[in-house]
Amino acid sequence: MVLPSMLLCDFANLAQEVKRLESAGFKALHLDVMDGVFVPNFSYGMTIINAFHQCTDLPLDVHLMMEGPENYIQQFHQAGADSITFHIEAVEDAVAVVQQIHELGMAAGVAIDRDTPVSAIAEVASQVDLILVMTIKAGFGGQSFIPELLEKLQAIRELAGEGPILQVDGGVNVGTISQCVEAGAEWMVVGSGVFKHDDYEEAHRQLLQPFCAEQG
Ligand code: DX5
Ligand code: ZN
Repeated sequence: MVLPSMLLCDFANLAQEVKRLESAGFKALHLDVMDGVFVPNFSYGMTIINAFHQCTDLPLDVHLMMEGPENYIQQFHQAGADSITFHIEAVEDAVAVVQQIHELGMAAGVAIDRDTPVSAIAEVASQVDLILVMTIKAGFGGQSFIPELLEKLQAIRELAGEGPILQVDGGVNVGTISQCVEAGAEWMVVGSGVFKHDDYEEAHRQLLQPFCAEQG
């Protein structure tokens, strides 16, 4: 599954953007929250998440690039998040944060940034529904994919077993998506690889094309 990262969408026409993505066949939206502290960039918070929630029934996959995510889980839930992924680098007790997310009925994910070793998620890997492997340094859309990070994805698959969904985020596009899937990724987050196109359906089709061909 390809999830459009909404960081680069036209926020002045948000409802229209969401309708275009629905028509293009996307099945969930990826929403990046950045606090200017955990990453050197600001994006948006609950108000915009809630605006997306009002525009669509598509599941909202919320990626928190922020310090202290445990203090805001309830608010993101109320805003309309269906899954919440927090960064392992941003919390003291990841297992407790996962429990908090699960208690509110949401799917829980843990994200691992470019420079963080796989061992950092060893304890929480069996507790989460999703593991998000950054294929860039978190913080900005439009960066180049770092292929070396796919080895980490493979190591995480071995560590976590078949349970959690593996997600890749950063620099995923028509040129890099196949490597991600070969390495075991199941959900691919794509920002500029969707929004630089005028035709989102065509962008979606091109991204999925290698896998449709495989199925005959
Ligand atoms: C960056 C975000 C990504 C970003 C992806 O830290 O987590 O979701 O929007 O954008 P592209 O696909 O352009 O790298
Ligand atoms: Zn993201």
